[in-house]
Amino acid sequence: MLMKLRIAVIDDEKIAGNRLKKSLEKEGYDVEAFTSAEPFFHRMAEEKFHLVFTDLRMPDTDGIAVLEHVRKFGEDTEVIVITGYGSIDSAIEAMKKGAYHYSIKPLKLDEIRMLAKNAAEKIRLRLENRCLRDAIAKRDSLTNIIGTSPVMQDVFAMIRKVADVDCNLLIQGKSGTGKELVARAVHSLSHRKNSLFVSFNCGGFTEELISSELFGHEKGAFTGATATKIGLIESSAGCTVFLDEIGEMPPSMQVKLLHVIQEKRIFRVGGIKPIDLNIRIIAATNRELKKEAEAGNFREDLFYRLNVVTIQVPTLAERRDDILLLISYFIEHYAKSFGKKVKGISQPASEILLNYDFPGNVRELKNIIERAVALTDHERIQVSDLPPDIRKLEFQTVEKDNFETLEEMEKRYIATVLERTNQNKNLTAKILGLPRTTLWRRLREYGFTI
Ligand SMILES: Nc1ncnc2c1ncn2[C@@H]1O[C@H](COP(=O)(O)OP(=O)(O)OP(=O)(O)O)[C@@H](O)[C@H]1O
Ligand SMILES: [Mg+2]
Repeated sequence: MLMKLRIAVIDDEKIAGNRLKKSLEKEGYDVEAFTSAEPFFHRMAEEKFHLVFTDLRMPDTDGIAVLEHVRKFGEDTEVIVITGYGSIDSAIEAMKKGAYHYSIKPLKLDEIRMLAKNAAEKIRLRLENRCLRDAIAKRDSLTNIIGTSPVMQDVFAMIRKVADVDCNLLIQGKSGTGKELVARAVHSLSHRKNSLFVSFNCGGFTEELISSELFGHEKGAFTGATATKIGLIESSAGCTVFLDEIGEMPPSMQVKLLHVIQEKRIFRVGGIKPIDLNIRIIAATNRELKKEAEAGNFREDLFYRLNVVTIQVPTLAERRDDILLLISYFIEHYAKSFGKKVKGISQPASEILLNYDFPGNVRELKNIIERAVALTDHERIQVSDLPPDIRKLEFQTVEKDNFETLEEMEKRYIATVLERTNQNKNLTAKILGLPRTTLWRRLREYGFTI
C-alpha cells in the first residue's frame, strides 16, 4: 500500500547501472542511479529509499559496506546485492548480514522484475502494518478519530483546547467529514463526560415538533397538549447537547434558541416559569453559516452566539495523507466484525482510492471499505471489490502514468545499443536485426546525429 516505491541502484559501471535503472523505471518505480557509495549515502540521509540494488565489487566502497551502512541507518530499506560469478562467497556473506537477496550478473529482466516485485510486496506489507498500528495508537489517544495529517492535528489541538472551556462550539464541515465524531470527542474530554451526549437533528422536522421536542410544553399549551412535556434541553442538565444541522433550523426556533443561550434558562411552550439550565451546546452544520447569516438565511445574532469557537473539519480531499490510514483502520474494523480474514488492499485498488475525490468524505470511504470487505474472496481487497463507478477511475489512473509511445521506446532502445557498441552502426544494425539502410533511415527520422 504505497505511493511509488523508491529504489537506488549503485554500480560503478555506469552503463550497467543505467540499464537496471531504466528496466526498473519501466516497472513504475522511482529510481536513482549512483556510480559509487558515497553520493548514495548523502542522498539516503535526505531522502528515504525503500530498496537498494548494489554491486558487490566496486573500487571505493564495496557492496558489503553499503549493506552495513543501510542496515545501520536505513530503517526498513531492503538491499539486493548484485555479484559476478566469482564472488558467490561474498554474496552469501551479504545474505548473512541481512541482504534481502543476491543476484548474479548478467541480470535477467524477468528476474529483476520478480525480485523488485517481491521486495515491494514485503515492504508494502510492513508499511501497512505500521500504518495500522499508528492508526490504532492515534485513535486511542483521541476517541476514535483517525488522522495524522497536519490539518487533522490542528483539529485535535483545537478539541483539546476547547474541551474543558465550557463554551458553545460550532463545528463546520462538509457531509461525512466527522463532525459528530469531533463533537463526541469534545464531550468525552470535558468535565461533562460522565453525563450524556444528547444529540438532536434540526433538519427534517416541522417547527412544532422541534419546539416541543427541544423546549417542551405545559399541559394545555395548545390543542393536543394533554400533558406537560419536558423538552430535551430541560432534561439535559449537566449534559452536552449536540444540535446537528443547525443551518436547517426554522427562523422562529432560531429566536427561541438564541434566548436559551443568552439567558441560560428556558420557558416551556405555554409556560411562565423560567427553568435554569446547565448545558453545553455544540452545533454542527455542513453549510457555511457565516455566509448563510450574511445572506439572511440564518440569524446573525445566533450565529455569533454559537460561533464562540469554530472547528472546521477538513474534507478528505484536503487530507489525502490520511486515506491509507483510514483504509487500514476500516479494513481491520470490518474484517473483525464480519469475521473475515481480510488483511489489506491491493496496490491497484489503493491507487484508485488515493486518486478519488470522495465527495462523501470519510463516510463514503468507510462505506466503500465495508462493502469491499463484505464482498471480497481475497486476503486483500481487489479492484473488482470496489463499487463500479469508482472502478471506472482505474482507466484514468492508468492513463495518467507516464507511458512511452512505441516510437519513443524504439528511439531509446536504438540509442542504448549505439551507446553499448560505441556508435558502431554496422554492429548496431546487426544487433537490432535491421538492414543497415533501414537503421540509417530510422536514425535520420529520429534526429540522431549521423
Ligand atoms: N477521522 C475519522 N476516523 C474514523 N472514522 C471517521 C472519521 N471521520 C469520520 N468517521 C466515520 O465516518 C462516518 C461519518 O462521520 P460523522 O457522522 O461524524 O460525519 P458528519 O460530518 O457528522 O456527517 P454529516 O454532515 O453527514 O452528518 C462515521 O461513521 C464516523 O465514525
Ligand atoms: Mg453528522
